[in-house]
Amino acid sequence: MQDKRPMKFITFTWGCQMNDHDSEVIRALLEQRGLVWTEDIEEADVIVLNTCSVRKSAEQKVMSFLGKLKHLKESRPDVVVAVGGCMTQNQEISDQLRKSGHVNIIFGARSFHRLPSLISSYERTGNQVVETDLEEQPPSGALPAHRDSRIKAYVTIMYGCDNFCSYCVVPYARGRERSRGSASVLAEARRIADLGYTEIQLLGQNVNSYRDPEGKRSFAELLAAVGEVAGIRRVRFMTSHPRDFTREIVQAIDAVPTLCDHVHLPVQSGSSRILQLMNRGYTREDYLERVSWIKAARRPIALSTDIIVGFPGETPSDFNATMELLAQVEYDSLFGYKYSSRPDTPASTMADSVSESEKAARLQVLLDRQRESQRISYSKQLGQILEVMVEGVNPAREQIIGRSSQNKPVNFTCAQPITPAPGSYLQVKITATHPNSLAGEAV
Ligand code: 5AD
Ligand code: SF4
Repeated sequence: MQDKRPMKFITFTWGCQMNDHDSEVIRALLEQRGLVWTEDIEEADVIVLNTCSVRKSAEQKVMSFLGKLKHLKESRPDVVVAVGGCMTQNQEISDQLRKSGHVNIIFGARSFHRLPSLISSYERTGNQVVETDLEEQPPSGALPAHRDSRIKAYVTIMYGCDNFCSYCVVPYARGRERSRGSASVLAEARRIADLGYTEIQLLGQNVNSYRDPEGKRSFAELLAAVGEVAGIRRVRFMTSHPRDFTREIVQAIDAVPTLCDHVHLPVQSGSSRILQLMNRGYTREDYLERVSWIKAARRPIALSTDIIVGFPGETPSDFNATMELLAQVEYDSLFGYKYSSRPDTPASTMADSVSESEKAARLQVLLDRQRESQRISYSKQLGQILEVMVEGVNPAREQIIGRSSQNKPVNFTCAQPITPAPGSYLQVKITATHPNSLAGEAV
């Protein structure tokens, strides 16, 4: 007699928001096919890994997880293991996965939406299925998504990346840029608002090079249009490339109150010499000009950035230039990384000249300086009243957790007898500040 129990699946995701959202799409597509989500790997019939290859450390995490799965697969050979995402686009890794003996399906960063049919194909034949075609055009319409959050919704507006920064694996892992039509993005935003979401985050590797295939809207116009969708109270976007960042975006933030007071503008280095070696397409001065537009906005806009330390050939004086840039810009938050050589990238042919210990030392100096800078800049918000979106509660500290429009975490107390629901908005008076968060009480 045939077992009618529906198949259960679990997904594991590494990497950026784009990958997180791809996994939300995978979940919805598998659920549409009748599979049931589980959080317990022991009861999963299908295990999906959505991988990241941005740094070697990310790949190592996935590899060690795969090592553990080998044992699971030995004791439960019927389990289907599907590995997809950025790592599988690398030939060497893909070959390794093919030969590993315990990976049944290999899907690329551009074929994640085909996973249901790849699973069917594996079930039919019992043979390993490999689908890593990067030429495949991603769907131009909206894909279904089972979103992890009930209050914030990711919306992909473009796939791939054409920048070819010399250190970066993304153009090789996610293929050429392709934007979704603005009408389809807006229709999705309206559906999301109808579902009760009030915050939307537009996603793309470089949202500033968004090109509406319908020719209707620039990125800034799309941003403004999403901000005007009824019911939407907050719109964020990730990631901006400084080269393509326009004044129009700042004007949109000024004009449309729902666009959040926050821009993530990765600089990567404060040295024009290193920026050129990185193929970033802008100088330190160009970058600072973008920053001056943002700082001249009518409302204060928080700035965050990404920095790589120890890029091939980075001298102490190049690193110093980065530290001086930090002092000049006064970022509200910063993500710092040690340079990691990635296969197939132009930088991988340059001598990885900065030692691991020197990279670690520079990173520590960078993060310490940033912490001190944030301690000072966050303290300027003392006494202010900010609108905070509630994200949850911290029962241990009897605090409500939320975020300001500037994306700063706010922990606060509330005199009301009923705890405000996640997704609600409250005015909070800031009564204490820390380097990474604000504290206060609802007014
Ligand atoms: N080594 C270290 N950091 C990297 N990033 C991208 N590629 C590398 C690399 N090879 C960082 C960049 C990027 C962020 C997502 O990851 O700072 O903005
Ligand atoms: Fe990782 Fe980059 Fe791929 Fe995102 S796009 S998953 S950060 S390699």
